[in-house]
Amino acid sequence: MMIGRPGLAGRAIARGVAVLFCAAALAACENTPDEPTEPPTLIERGRQIFFTETFDGNGRTCGTCHRAEDNFGLSPNFIATLPLEDPLFVAETVDALKNGFEAPVQMRAHGLIRENLDGFEDLETIFTLRGVPHTLALRTSIASPLGPRTGWSGDGAPGDGSLRAFSVGAVIQHFPKSTNRVAGVDFRLPTEEELDALEAFMLSIGRQEEIALPIQFRDPLVMRGQAIFMDNAAGRCNVCHFNAGANGDPRVLGPNPGNLNFNTGVEDLPDLPSHVTGQPVPPRDDGFGIPGDGTFNTPPLVEAADTGPFFHNNAVATIEEAVGFYNSAAFNNSPAGQLIRQATGSGIALEATQVQAIASFLRAINALENIREATARLQESLVAREARAAEALLQTRAEIDDAIEVLSGASLSGDAVLHLREARRLSAAPRRYDDAWRTQVNDAVAALERARTRILAPAD
Ligand code: HEC
Ligand code: HEC
Repeated sequence: MMIGRPGLAGRAIARGVAVLFCAAALAACENTPDEPTEPPTLIERGRQIFFTETFDGNGRTCGTCHRAEDNFGLSPNFIATLPLEDPLFVAETVDALKNGFEAPVQMRAHGLIRENLDGFEDLETIFTLRGVPHTLALRTSIASPLGPRTGWSGDGAPGDGSLRAFSVGAVIQHFPKSTNRVAGVDFRLPTEEELDALEAFMLSIGRQEEIALPIQFRDPLVMRGQAIFMDNAAGRCNVCHFNAGANGDPRVLGPNPGNLNFNTGVEDLPDLPSHVTGQPVPPRDDGFGIPGDGTFNTPPLVEAADTGPFFHNNAVATIEEAVGFYNSAAFNNSPAGQLIRQATGSGIALEATQVQAIASFLRAINALENIREATARLQESLVAREARAAEALLQTRAEIDDAIEVLSGASLSGDAVLHLREARRLSAAPRRYDDAWRTQVNDAVAALERARTRILAPAD
């Protein structure tokens, strides 16, 4: 661990990593202006399709809803920054999409998107309104012994639920020029090559492996939150969100449980924002299958704190309320809540201070993930072509902003926040991608490393 002189050590590491990157990619090690000399890799090709390909449709791309600078998801706060010309709002601007395509009021207020999981036959009454899940850490979150699980209910419609099949479904659902949805007229279907590239790109973004709990944190409240999260007689969170990921705990649920579906009763909450706000009031979302079995897919929690609102229907806006949900009658009376009561003799009952402690833990692991991702993007910026370097820096700043927000939102790790602010300043877009800028990027990496060590307990 680099405690003594993190600045220098951080720089050395960054240089080492940059050299490794160059050796591995056999690409030019200095930033080069934007005349591509090599054909793009499958991942680069996938990124290009994800952010620019409209499939001859209404102008949307995958990146219209899965925004790189909004954690590959879409929050109401982000929506509020977009102009009316943004293709997200086609239901407000294109006549052929005015009816039965989106629910503009709920989209703007709560980030909800219309999904026709049960088919397009009756657009007025058969639909759901769902939040946009981030597409980070998919490599860790979609595998189940029953096959891949994609989408909030893991149904991955249409087809086999793989990322390739899901991408086809996304084009048909979100890209058409009219609600007739005729392939070849209202949009074109992705080619096999495009699906391969999209899959490779989506698997490459965000966290690639599980974290290992427990982590030694500096803040005793965060430590306490982690303990309650992991305690199978208290929080019981770790049973379904093992290591704060998306898979079940093999010690409780049997070998290799993978990513599981549960009915945790989120649809039974009263006063759901989508129901309180405007028309149309969405019918009950019955989840997996036709008819649905009411279950939803367990999301990873490492990425949660900065990707609210929470749950498949964006039911609550804050991470504290998402934790507090597990105290509710809706949860404790749900099929999953009943299972827990039968297995352990009691439902989940957390005091306000314990909700706060668990949420603080989720904030801390989220900030560590922001720091990991920001560091990786800074290192990428050093070896990428200029246009990509600019994007990588934009993503870096978004990650650092999120870390600052999730920590300061609960008054956590004030001194880590100071170093994050320093890293934020050093990650600004440069006028020139020159040696002075490279030094600055290495200083930003070092500042991030200092922030990380302020969140973790000091090494002995
Ligand atoms: C109009 C907004 C919108 C657009 C455009 C969009 N998506 Fe999505 N995406 C969503 C919503 C909403 C969900 C949740 C769907 C569900 O649960 O049924 C989702 C879910 C996903 C998931 C599942 C993530 C998980 O954790 O299981 C993947 C993968 C995905 N989208 C990929 C894509 C790809 C690839 C494209 C482009 C071809 C795309 N999306 C375009 C809104 C959008
Ligand atoms: C029985 C399995 C189970 C248990 C136990 C469980 N969860 Fe969940 N969790 C889920 C499922 C399934 C979802 C998705 C539900 C939905 O969207 O309808 C979820 C969603 C969440 C979300 C929202 C994530 C997002 O991206 O929207 C948070 C936060 C969360 N859980 C935290 C916790 C905490 C904290 C605990 C312990 C107090 C806990 N969970 C216990 C299964 C479980």
